[in-house]
Amino acid sequence: MPKRVKIIPITGPSITEKEVKYVSEATRNGWYKNANKYIGEFERKFSSYIGTKYAIATSSCTGALHIALASLGIGKGDEVIVPDITWIATAAAVRYVGARPVFADIEPDTWCIDPRKMEKKITKRTKAVIPVHLYGHPADMAAIMAVAKRHNLRVIEDAAESIGSLYNGRKTGSFGDFSCFSFHGTKILTTGEGGILLTNNGRLYKRAYFLSNQGKSKKPFWNTEVGLKYKMSNMQAALGTVQLSRIEEMIGKKIEIFNWYKERLGDVPGIKLNAERPGCKNNYWMITAILDKKFGLKKEALMKKLLKYGIVSRPFFYPLSSLPPFSEKTNNSVAYSLSPYALHFPCGLNITRSQVGYVCGTLLKILKLK
Ligand SMILES: Cc1ncc(COP(=O)(O)O)c(C=O)c1O
Repeated sequence: MPKRVKIIPITGPSITEKEVKYVSEATRNGWYKNANKYIGEFERKFSSYIGTKYAIATSSCTGALHIALASLGIGKGDEVIVPDITWIATAAAVRYVGARPVFADIEPDTWCIDPRKMEKKITKRTKAVIPVHLYGHPADMAAIMAVAKRHNLRVIEDAAESIGSLYNGRKTGSFGDFSCFSFHGTKILTTGEGGILLTNNGRLYKRAYFLSNQGKSKKPFWNTEVGLKYKMSNMQAALGTVQLSRIEEMIGKKIEIFNWYKERLGDVPGIKLNAERPGCKNNYWMITAILDKKFGLKKEALMKKLLKYGIVSRPFFYPLSSLPPFSEKTNNSVAYSLSPYALHFPCGLNITRSQVGYVCGTLLKILKLK
C-alpha cells in the first residue's frame, strides 16, 4: 500500500465527553458500597430498553451464550441448531458445554437462519436453537418460535449485532428463553469488551445468576457447584449506560450511513446490499454487499484491491461447517453460494459521507462499472 493512502477503518464507536465523564466518575467512586452501582444501573436500563425483566451484564456475549446454555442444562449428547453463517462464538459456546452444534442454512435475503431448514435439522437429541440476528437484520422470530414450540425446544437469541432492531414492532432480544448482546468495540453500543444476558423467566434468571456467580450459595465462600465467571466491571457498565442514553442517535447514524451506500450502490445491477423485510427494522450494524459472480471477484481478492486504496473491508462469515474445528459436509447451499462473493464496507460511527462516496467510487472503478 502506498504510504500516503489514508486508511478508512471498517468500524468503530462514537465516544463523547459524556462517556469519558461518567467512566471517570465510576473509576473514582465505583468501589466499597458502590461496588455494583453502575452494573446495576446498566442492567436495569438495558433490560428496560429491550423489554425483558432480568439482565446479567457480562464480560462478553460469548460468556452470556455460555451461561445461557449451562443454565438450560444443555450438555453432552445434546444438539443445538445454529445458523451456518455467524461468528464462531455462537457455535463455540455450544461446544463449551459439551453439546454438538448443528448447522442450518440461511435465508437468501436476510442471511439469517431459515426456519424451514432449521426444522429439518431437528433430531431426538435437539434441545435448543440459537437464531442470530445477522448484521442487524432480525431473524424470522414468529416462524422460529412456532418451530421451537412444536418440538419443545429452548430458544436463545444471539442478538450480539442487533441492538435496537425490530421484528413486528418488538425489539430483537425479547423473544427467546434467553437473549445475548455484545458490546465489543466493533458494536454500535460498546463497553470495550462486554455483553449481557437477558430473560423474562425468573427461574432461569435465578439459575443463570447462580452459575454466573461461581456457584456461590448464601453461606459465604461455600460454593455448591462449579459455576462460571464472566462479569462486567463498574467502569464498563458506566460506559454502557451513557452509550445506551445515546442509542437512538447512534442507530440513526448507522441508518444514515446505509442510505449513503444505498444512494450510490442500491441500483447497480449485480450488487445486493443489506435487506429490510416488511415488518422489520434493520439497525444496519454492518454494511454488506453480495456481488454477482459475473464480476469474477471473490471476496478475498476484492478486499486486497480495496486495501490498496486505503479501504479496510471485512469478509462475510465463512460457513462455520467449513472451518477446521467443525469441518462437516452439509447441504447448506445458500450459505455456501453467498459467502465467497460477500463482504463488508467501512461503516464506523465516525465515517463521513464523502468517505462513503470514496469507497463506493473505488468499488465501482474496481468492478469496471465507472
Ligand atoms: C453473531 C455474534 N455472536 C456472538 C458474538 C460474540 O460477542 P463477544 O465478542 O462480545 O463475545 C459476536 C461478536 O462479534 C457476534 O457477532
